[in-house]
Amino acid sequence: MADRKLHFETLQIHGGYHVDASQSRGIAIHPTAAYHFPTCEYAANLFTLSEAGYIYTRLHNPTTAAYEERIAALYGGVGALATASGMSAILLTVTALANAGQNIVASPYLYGGTHNQFVISLRNVGIECRLAASDSAEDMKALIDENTRALFVESMGNPTCRVADIEALAEVAHSHNIPLIVDNTFGAGGYLCNPFEWGADIITDSATKWINGHGTAMGGVIVDGGKFDWGCGKFPAIDGPSEGYHGLNLYEAFGKQAFIVKCRVDGMRDFGCCPSPFDAYLMMLGLETLSLRVKHEVESTYKLAEYCRNHPKVERVSFVGFDDHPSHKLAQKYFRHGASAVLTIELKGTLESTIKFVESLRLSGNMTMIGDSISVVTHPASTTHKQLSDEAKRAAGITPTLLRISLGLENVEDIIADYEQALEAI
Ligand SMILES: Cc1ncc(COP(=O)(O)O)c(C=O)c1O
Repeated sequence: MADRKLHFETLQIHGGYHVDASQSRGIAIHPTAAYHFPTCEYAANLFTLSEAGYIYTRLHNPTTAAYEERIAALYGGVGALATASGMSAILLTVTALANAGQNIVASPYLYGGTHNQFVISLRNVGIECRLAASDSAEDMKALIDENTRALFVESMGNPTCRVADIEALAEVAHSHNIPLIVDNTFGAGGYLCNPFEWGADIITDSATKWINGHGTAMGGVIVDGGKFDWGCGKFPAIDGPSEGYHGLNLYEAFGKQAFIVKCRVDGMRDFGCCPSPFDAYLMMLGLETLSLRVKHEVESTYKLAEYCRNHPKVERVSFVGFDDHPSHKLAQKYFRHGASAVLTIELKGTLESTIKFVESLRLSGNMTMIGDSISVVTHPASTTHKQLSDEAKRAAGITPTLLRISLGLENVEDIIADYEQALEAI
């Protein structure tokens, strides 16, 4: 049993779960900021990283550690770090790799928040994020120079559902001695897509979405694949004397786990975006049913997409599960179990009739959310993309009648009946 590789469905329940002295089935929530040090020598060893143990919950916590262990097990990584949000997971990852004066090269098909973090906030502190003309290996490669420290893509872009060619991008990154970072939020905690299987080095994931699965907490994770060669000479903060740790060389001290240790001991220590132990508990609970939820949601998405495709008031359906989607082939390669629980539709009609449709729905929440147990409909033109100029909206494919849909756990026949009455209302 010990050397038998466990399936995802088993790991989502048993990963990180250790029966403690209380013999509880439930996972203990440790609502504590600090930990007793039995001796000052022990404390000193913790602070120099020569001994492992708990110091302060900003750095680690027993509940959060169990959750991180489960995430690492699901992705097959050498370690994980839980953060307060998906955005902070990206921030800690990029700032662990690139300093002011250096750059990363990113796909243009990014979640809007990530786009802003890259082209405004990180630029303002001197880290340049170069957005490629597309996410193709050629376009990304064209922007790499001697100061590039990573490639960044979303496995499936939000909201376009464009799928990155992870294998080809990993090859480009490695030929330049830089890691490939994949935001795998749409990969649903590794159930739909595991970028490590295709050569990615670091994964970030907005746990707020499918990992939590019930819209009850914010969170993010960073997962370290443990395969990148930090000794390649480009990362002296990992393979070199650490300024924050008395000259300790993290690569020599922690080997394959050097990157995720750096994210924790430097990034989390200095930026402080830790999750609460209660939220870590909610994530862990969510993970126990991840595969079941995603399976149901994907099945429902196919049915709703088919229904919409045949409805006379729907102009266009964009669903990566259909073979007319530009990323259908790549989705078949990289995404398992039917690819995605997100689709977009464009209604016939006007901005006003689209708003009327959204407001007529009774079973779908009008929210900016995906991966929730409640079905969600988002109207990008009046929410996520409202601040864009008309021209920028057009370039991003955001029309006044476009809707992003994320299916939840309801019976899809009820969802379709609800769409029917809302479409009749316009
Ligand atoms: C692909 C992707 N990455 C990152 C984020 C940010 O995650 P969070 O909202 O947890 O900060 C989101 C949020 O929607 C997302 O869709």
